[in-house]
Amino acid sequence: MEGTEQVAADLLGEAYNVEMGVTNEAFPNERDNTAGCQFNATPEDSTNLAVSEPTNSPASDFSSDVVNFAAFMRLLAAPTPVAPTNTTTQGSNQFVNVGCSGCHIPQHTTAQSPFGGQSNVTLTPLSDFALHNMGTGLQDQVSQGAANGQQFRTAPLWGIGQRVFFLHDGRTQSLVTAIEAHASQGSEANQVISNFNLLRASDQQAVIAYLRSL
Ligand code: HEC
Repeated sequence: MEGTEQVAADLLGEAYNVEMGVTNEAFPNERDNTAGCQFNATPEDSTNLAVSEPTNSPASDFSSDVVNFAAFMRLLAAPTPVAPTNTTTQGSNQFVNVGCSGCHIPQHTTAQSPFGGQSNVTLTPLSDFALHNMGTGLQDQVSQGAANGQQFRTAPLWGIGQRVFFLHDGRTQSLVTAIEAHASQGSEANQVISNFNLLRASDQQAVIAYLRSL
């Protein structure tokens, strides 16, 4: 595996270990190394060189869980936004005008992919997939990978209209609160949020309507 496949497997491998407690080829070490607590050989999930219970999918039989998770996620369909209206178009324009789109970049085009139908595809995740300092208000004090305790990767906003809890800790069900929480000491989004706050109420509502349509 190379490139994005390796990144996907690493992210999944970390989650499988840290969130689920299953050691794997990307993250082979137990979180708790107490000698009396080691019962399984590690990594607990690995490539299956000897398949004991073959199914009708030899590729997935041989693959580790982590590789199968990556394939599953890669083949999920993107969320489908509702058809634009005058209001959502107005909201989308204001989203760009105030600068939300500086981090929540609307469109990307994929490079050549070894997977069928995934080369040169335009997608609209609304993220730059980059880390940003989000200030003292959102900080979780968890440093993970390259991110310090105040940095987060821009949340993709596609499908946000279908979600109920917002921000990394699900602290709010209100899109307005989620937007306002971007502003606090040290946040890279402070100027953008003050631009948003200066919009007319009808433009702010249009931004919310746009987000709900995604
Ligand atoms: C400096 C980069 C940056 C800017 C500018 C920015 N965002 Fe974000 N946004 C983020 C990051 C990073 C997160 C994830 C924060 C977290 O999980 O705590 C996020 C999360 C969100 C969420 C919650 C997503 C979820 O899945 O829970 C919403 C909604 C959102 N942004 C909307 C906006 C809007 C609207 C604007 C413009 C008014 C905006 N953002 C401007 C970086 C930015």
